[in-house]
Amino acid sequence: MKALPKFVTIKEVGPRDGLQNEPEQIPTEIKVEWIDLLSKAGFTSIEASSFVHPKWIPQLKDAKEVMQQIRREPGVGYSALVPNYKGLNVALEANVDEVAVFMSASEAHNLRNINKSIEETYPILEKVIKEAKLHNKRVRGYVSTVFGCPYDGEVPIPKVIEVSQHLLNMGADDLSLGDTIGAADPLQVDHFLKEIKGVLNFNQIAMHFHNTNGMALANVLVALQHGIVIYDSALGGLGGCPYAKGASGNLATDDLVHMLHKMGIKTGIDETKLTEAAVYIQDALNKELTSHQMQVLNRTMQEEA
Ligand code: HMG
Ligand code: MG
Repeated sequence: MKALPKFVTIKEVGPRDGLQNEPEQIPTEIKVEWIDLLSKAGFTSIEASSFVHPKWIPQLKDAKEVMQQIRREPGVGYSALVPNYKGLNVALEANVDEVAVFMSASEAHNLRNINKSIEETYPILEKVIKEAKLHNKRVRGYVSTVFGCPYDGEVPIPKVIEVSQHLLNMGADDLSLGDTIGAADPLQVDHFLKEIKGVLNFNQIAMHFHNTNGMALANVLVALQHGIVIYDSALGGLGGCPYAKGASGNLATDDLVHMLHKMGIKTGIDETKLTEAAVYIQDALNKELTSHQMQVLNRTMQEEA
């Protein structure tokens, strides 16, 4: 196996990508408490919410309140999705640290997700990025459907490169390449990363895997061997995209942290505090704890006894 990185940064996207897909409205105070627990677990970056149209994503309609009520931990950047200028203005009022713009590499998903063609999206995001930069905000550019679209099927790699370069040229600091519906397999990830090597700067790339049949961790292992050191994940594997039919949950942060630590790769994340945050949100959502979460809890109780 090729040499693996010694340190990996994990962006927790559960409060946004996880909760946007929950059938029930989660009270603001639960979101705030959960983010506060995550802030203590060692993340340097947390995606807290989304300034999109509340009719499209009602679950996150309290984005401003969430951003204003969380206790901001020094060294942690709090980001949010921003689709357009209107969303940006509210995000700036709420003092986000990072503006995350998003679009797809496939026409049909872009249209269903943000109601615009790819060409129509560029000037909208250009204005958002320019204004965000004037306010000294970091800008992340998401590219969705990188490994397959639920409507268009296969997505050509040159199209992914074109959209990615556009976002970078417009001023995005870095990119998150999304396997929106969890379509990727390890060989596809290997082929993709070989194709984009030298074209896109790997230091500016995060991988955002959704998890179908446990494939996300295998995909991470391949990306690690290519030197990718930033990964998005959601605690407990929450999540999915409401505008991508069949979108599976995100790669689970707890599984990712466990795998990386077991392989000697540091993340800065405290597994006990992470599990406390997992127990909190899974309880609130009436979801069962995983066997790994139970193991960490039992270990902690034994250590404390
Ligand atoms: P639209 O209807 O085309 O917007 O929606 P519009 O510009 O035509 O405006 C229509 C109305 O919406 C106007 O109000 C605007 O003011 C209002 P009216 O004059 O009719 O009263 N409006 C807004 N209101 C609040 N906040 C805003 C906003 N913008 C316009 N920001 C829009 C376009 C982009 C807003 C809509 O399509 C939308 O909100 N989409 C959200 C989709 C979404 O959040 N999807 C999930 C996140 S993406 C994802 O999960 C993938 C990712 O995880 C990576 C991966 O996995 O690949 C990131
Ligand atoms: Mg996603």
